[in-house]
Amino acid sequence: MKSAGKSAANEKNEKLLRAAKKAMKQAYAPYSHFRVGAAFLTAKGEIFSGCNVENASYGLTICAERNAIFAAVAQSGPGLEIRAIAVVNDQGVSCSPCGACRQVIYEFGPKATVYFQSARGWKTTPITDLLPEGFRLK
Ligand code: THU
Repeated sequence: MKSAGKSAANEKNEKLLRAAKKAMKQAYAPYSHFRVGAAFLTAKGEIFSGCNVENASYGLTICAERNAIFAAVAQSGPGLEIRAIAVVNDQGVSCSPCGACRQVIYEFGPKATVYFQSARGWKTTPITDLLPEGFRLK
């Protein structure tokens, strides 16, 4: 029998996955056609989500993860604490957060777990495994 803790964690992942998939549908990705959605759970139990938004000047593109985090700060203030974040894409391929997003996740969630599609299926991993020795000023 599964422990209660494990099934609660699975439920949380499912909820985040659903929110990430919903956000993914809003993606603006006319250049790469690679739609990404991200959703995260905060210490207060809120869920925020975001999608990637591309630009004709390619480098201005913003990833789903950072879009979600920046929108959350704009909406609910600087006390954001990320507990878990899920990332999905519409191609069903492996997609872990890029380096820039890892650093931004770490800023607001140094103990966050990241749920993403790896080369070997869905993976849950601490942000510190994806970003060892992340940069901090405080
Ligand atoms: N992208 C994300 O939104 N998140 C990731 O973790 C990886 C990449 C976006 C950026 C760009 O719009 C598209 O995927 C292709 O790189």
